[in-house]
Formats: sequence, structure tokens, C-alpha cells
Amino acid sequence: MSEKQFKRTLVTSALPYANGPVHIGHLAGVYVPADIYVRYLRLQGKPVLFVGGSDEHGVPVTIRARKEGITTQQVVDRYHNLIKDSFEQFGISFDVYSRTTSAVHHKLASDFFRKLYDDGKFIQQTTEQFYDEETKEFLTDRNIRGECPHCHSQGAYGDQCEKCGRTLSPDELINPYNAVNGNPLTKRATTHWYLPLDQYQQWLEQWILEEHKEWRPNVYGQCKSWLDGGLRPRAVTRDLNWGIPVPVEGAEGKVLYVWFDAPIGYISNTKELCDAQPGKFGKWETWWKDESTRLIHFIGKDNIVFHCIVFPSMLKAEGSYILPDNVPSNEFLNLEGDKISTSRNWAVWLNEYLDDFPGKQDVLRYVLTANAPETKDNDFTWADFQARNNNELVAIYGNFVNRALVLTHKYFEGKVPAQGVLTDYDNATINEFRDIKLRLEQLLDQFRFRDAQKEAMNLARIGNKYLADTEPWKLAKTDMQRTATILNLALQIAANLSIAFEPFLPFSSEKLRNMLNLTNADWNRLGNTDLLAESATVNEPSLLFEKIDDSAIQAQLDRLARIKKENEAAAWQAPQVKAPTCIEEFDKTDIRVGTVLECTKVKKSDKLLQFKIDDGMGGRTILSGIAQSYPDPQELVGKQVLFIANFPPRKMMGIESQGMILSAVNADGKLVVTTVSKPVRNGVQVG
Ligand code: 2FM
Ligand code: ZN
Repeated sequence: MSEKQFKRTLVTSALPYANGPVHIGHLAGVYVPADIYVRYLRLQGKPVLFVGGSDEHGVPVTIRARKEGITTQQVVDRYHNLIKDSFEQFGISFDVYSRTTSAVHHKLASDFFRKLYDDGKFIQQTTEQFYDEETKEFLTDRNIRGECPHCHSQGAYGDQCEKCGRTLSPDELINPYNAVNGNPLTKRATTHWYLPLDQYQQWLEQWILEEHKEWRPNVYGQCKSWLDGGLRPRAVTRDLNWGIPVPVEGAEGKVLYVWFDAPIGYISNTKELCDAQPGKFGKWETWWKDESTRLIHFIGKDNIVFHCIVFPSMLKAEGSYILPDNVPSNEFLNLEGDKISTSRNWAVWLNEYLDDFPGKQDVLRYVLTANAPETKDNDFTWADFQARNNNELVAIYGNFVNRALVLTHKYFEGKVPAQGVLTDYDNATINEFRDIKLRLEQLLDQFRFRDAQKEAMNLARIGNKYLADTEPWKLAKTDMQRTATILNLALQIAANLSIAFEPFLPFSSEKLRNMLNLTNADWNRLGNTDLLAESATVNEPSLLFEKIDDSAIQAQLDRLARIKKENEAAAWQAPQVKAPTCIEEFDKTDIRVGTVLECTKVKKSDKLLQFKIDDGMGGRTILSGIAQSYPDPQELVGKQVLFIANFPPRKMMGIESQGMILSAVNADGKLVVTTVSKPVRNGVQVG
């Protein structure tokens, strides 16, 4: 934290794109840490506002709409509600969760742009951009695909290659094409407005590199490398029909770039909340324009440049806003060793997790924090999830609380027994956690959530060990006074646990407080041994955590294995737009005509169809990943199709595929098999 004295904290968390559900990577990277921090500040009684919302503009949502064959508005409505619901279920305690399609946001973002425009803060440039002559549209980076110039994988996006992870610009792609329809692209002139980041370079160097050396090394390092590379003007408008219209005459058909409007969403959402409940939250300007407000952005590492360089430059250009005091960004969470990917369905979706593990929100919160990618990319594995639940939450925390309560009921009729004389061992135990509040605060103030949660779990370990060492169940036969003292201390530790874990595991903490009849978590009393009054009643215990058995974990692993197989099949089948470099290369591919004799869905696969083809050579089986485009595979029977005959046989889902059926993508994003315009003899070569 910087030296400055602040009166209030404004916490924002990245606005997720409303183009799909949220997954564990989102939760681990941004929302759980932000929520822990906000809950902690609230426990300390500090004024804080937690702002979230959905990012509903930009190309990702338009791509999703095309894929699903619904309107863009329908896409954002669907996913905004789903995401909002998931966050609520996981206890992410936003004060406001709104959306960038709101009227408040459209006006505020539009006014923001207009002010910068009127103040002469933009430069206007006309450049040549990729254009699809058939659909008459300029293509955004994300809608252009081609061969990656670095790893030469096909289908790299105009802004990034998902295979090797490198950032790209569309000009670098080899053989670029329209990602939606496969059309080749031409270039056309178009005019846009740019924020001249180069003019902010010096100021940013001073502000970040000199004045914010305390930022996390990954954040500071990434900023430094951007600054060292020299900043260039960045376009803040796009040729697109979805977004906030550029509020300037002659800018028809252009919208604000999603990365221009999205961070302004933090401001709009604050405004929406404060305007609706000024008595409770005050004026929105106090949160955004008063120097005594501390602004913290929680984000993932792919958002660093936008939150540390672009958005601050926008705020600086506008002139009346505060700047972030810190941007605690996490690295990435992988899943079972592979990068989480929405398009490849390689993720644990929060809505699906809750279907499979109802009521276990805190287990996931715990595991994601224990394994948080705070300093480097980390891996989520189901084995680790099970181990942390069974060996830590159940065996240590849950077991300790359960024993303390069961014994209190057994020997003291559910009443907190009196504390007698403390032994040296009791005092040594107390000394181990007396300063827990201070230790937690030091870690949480530095955004070290993983270590902080470890401290809380350590308190449960202390309690567990204390009961194991003192064995009150044995003493109860001979020394009730000593038993009383031990159980009193054990219950006090349990009460401390309900406070210490409150920012991390809010559901379990509440459950525990209910068992202990504690009305609220008093952070200031953390570390004390008189949280429960003598003779106060405690309730019958119910299990805080339950064991997760192998079959539940195996079901998750089976699901991932299935997805992996489908992805492999789909990747193999993906249409690739790549021109052969010479006729000899083209000739190497043996394309032939065959008639579909049978066509059925492959069991347990959403994507694969199994074809029996009369290839004029005795017949063959071919698998094709086009099931989603042909809900009724029977319609293909009798059709003549084109297939590649000389691919080596390959096994998928236990079936050998002897070739590849050629298909093309239509305007709805569906795959359609290629055929011949008049019947020809089966087995005939195409060329
Ligand atoms: O990366 C993303 O998912 C973006 N939608 C994050 C936006 S954060 C903020 F600027 F709104
Ligand atoms: Zn690549």
C-alpha cells in the first residue's frame, strides 16, 4: 500500500465478456481474491465499494451470436444473467453488478469520448484495413484468421495465436481470411480515432516505474516491458455494428472500441448504484474523483496493459478522475495441465460445478485460493481438489470443530464450560494464535491471499493438535475441571476460526457461527479467548465439510477425457484455409468422391458422426466432427461427398477413421459437407 492516507476503497473486478459462462479461471484469477479483499475491508469496518458487471460489447459476443444463430442482444442477455447468478451463488459480494449495454453506461462512455474529442486528445488517422468484399464489412482483429507466422499453426486469430500464445496483428498472419465465412480479404481505407499513448509515455514511466514500485512484480514487469518497447497511438474506435456509436459526425458505422468503453463501465456501474441509493452509497463522484479514495483493480494478466497503461491514460486525458493505487493481477490458472479455453470447452464452468457439487461453493473457493496463481501460472487438478477437501477442510478444520462441539454436548449439555487454570501447554497454544489478526492483516494488505488463507488453516491445525494432545475424552473420566478448560479453549478457537475464515469461506463461517450462536464476526476480537461467554449455549454440530469420494472425481476426469478426444477429432477435421505452395503439394492430397451408405452419431460424443462410404474400392469408415451441424445424420445418406482418401488411419472414440470428409462453413457457422453437382462414379479422383 502506498503511504497516502485514504478514506475509502473502491474495488473493481474485470468485467467478464458476456459471451459464455464463467469458469474456475475467472474465479481464481479475479473474483475470489477481490471478494476476499472486500470482505476483509468490510470486517475492518472500512468504507468500501465493490463494483462488477458484464462486458457486453466487442467482437467475442458477436462471434458467439453467429455461432449460436441468435441475436447479439440475446447472447448478452443470456450470459449476463448466467454470470451474475454464478457470482451470487459463489458469494462474490458485489455492491453492484451491472452491464455495459445499460443506458447509463452508453451515455457516460459516449460523453467521456466526446470530452476527449472536444479537448483535442485524440488523433485521427486513415489506414488500410482488412475488408470482405462480399459481406461489405471491415474485419476486426478477432474475426480474421490465418496461419501463425511463429508456430505456423492454422486458424490463429488476428490478435493472438491460441496455439503458441503470441500476440499478433492481422498483418502478420499468413493467408488471412474471414473467420466467419472463410472469404479471402482485401484492404480498404478507413478512418479512426487514436489515443496517442506515446504522449503519455513519460508520465506513465514516472507514475508506474518510480511511484508504484510496490506493485506485484508480474504487473510492474509487464508495464516496464511495454514502456521499454515504446508506446504507440492506439485506435479507440472500430468499424462494427455492435457497441456504442462514436458520437462524432461522419462516424456512422463506427463504435467505441470495447477496451475503450469497458473500463468506463466501472464508473457507470458506480454511478448507477449511487444514483439509485445516494443515502447509502453517497455520490459516485466521491468514489471516482476524490483524491482520498483508493482505487484497486482486480484483473487477470491479459488485462494488465489496459488497466495500467491505457485506462490510466484515458483518465489522465479526461483530467478529473483518480488513478488506480494498485492493480493486483494474477497469472493464469490451467486445468489439468492445459490452458483453460472457452472455445475448446476446456474449463470447469461454475454453473456445472454447482450441479455436480451442490452446496460446495466454499470448497472451490478454498482450493482456488490455496492454489491461486498469484506469482506464476498454476494448475487446477481434480486430484488436488479432492485432497485439499478431504485432508484439509474435512480432516483438519471440520474435524476439529465437530469434535469440540460433540464433546461440549456430551459432557456439558451444549453449554460453554468454564475456563479454569491454564497450563503452560494451554498458554503456549494461545500464544501461537494471539497475533493472528495482525498476521492476517499484513498478508491481506499486501494482497497475499494464498498465504493469508494458510494462516487461517493453521489456526484449525492448532486447534486440532490441541485436542489430539490433551485428549479431553479421556480426561472426562477423571478430571471434569480440566476437561472444561480444554473444551472452553477449543470452542474459543472454533469461534476465532469463524472470523478468520470469514473473508475466504463465507458460507462455512456463517454455518459455524450459527452452531456457536455467534451473531456476527467481530474482526477486532480475533485472537482473543473470550469470544464465547461461559454457559452460553452452542448448537448440535452439523458437518462443516463432507468427504468427496473417488467416483465424483472420476466423473470429472472422464468428462475432461471426453472433451479432449472430441477436441482432437475436431482439430483434425477443422477446415483449413491454406493455399498449397505448388501444384505438386496439392497433388499429394488424394481427394475422391464416395456415396454415403450409412451415417450415425458416435455414442458418447457430441461432435462425431460415423460414415460408411462406398468409395468404389470396397468401402471405408470415416469419422467427421460435424454432428452439431447435422442433427439428423440420415439426411446425408445417399449423398455423394468429397473425402481425402490418403490420410493415415486414425482411431477416435475407439473407432478407426480412414480418411476425412471435406466440409465448408456456411454463414451460420455450420459445417456443410461438400458434394458434386452431378453424379459421378464412386472412387473417382478430384483434381
Ligand atoms: O478480458 C476480458 O474478459 C475483458 N472483458 C475484461 C474487461 S475489464 C474492464 F475493463 F472492463
Ligand atoms: Zn503461433
